[in-house]
Amino acid sequence: MYEFLANTHNLIRWIVLPLMLVVVVLSWSGFFTNREYRKSDKTLGVSMLGLVHLQLLLGLILYFVSPMVQLALDDFGAAMKNAELRKIVMEHPLVAIIAVTLVQIGYSKAKKAKIAIRKHKTMAIYTTIALVLILSRIPSWSFLR
Ligand code: HEM
Repeated sequence: MYEFLANTHNLIRWIVLPLMLVVVVLSWSGFFTNREYRKSDKTLGVSMLGLVHLQLLLGLILYFVSPMVQLALDDFGAAMKNAELRKIVMEHPLVAIIAVTLVQIGYSKAKKAKIAIRKHKTMAIYTTIALVLILSRIPSWSFLR
């Protein structure tokens, strides 16, 4: 089960990160050109939200079944001194949870906003910050595990 979850979590990043980038680019361009908020903007936003929540769910389960996390938690003090383990056990999960929360807040605020330019602006700001946070703490950039 661990291998399946870790591979899925690893692979979904190749969908969710480009999708977030598309949302960032379209929201900023929508804001600067003051274009209408289209159905496609909404669909992209919902898809992004669903996928980051799926990553959150997989990540939370992984936290309890990953041998690497287990190893780190066995000697937490030593793990904190090892940059790679610290990233996997602490920095990546914590920063990703903050990022998922920002995506959720951004989406909800944009949904409530009455005018298109405000929807674009809200999506653009929250998604940009979330994307930068996630990118700053990705444990590994190798294509496959
Ligand atoms: C959009 C959000 C996220 C993305 C794009 C993402 C991406 C990744 C990637 C690329 C890896 C490396 C896998 C490998 O070594 O091959 C990874 C590992 C991991 N992630 Fe995430 N992650 C996200 C959110 C989360 C969250 C919210 C948690 C926990 C609450 C989490 C927990 C973990 C853990 C524990 C591992 C290490 C698994 C292992 O190899 O044993 N991730 N993540």
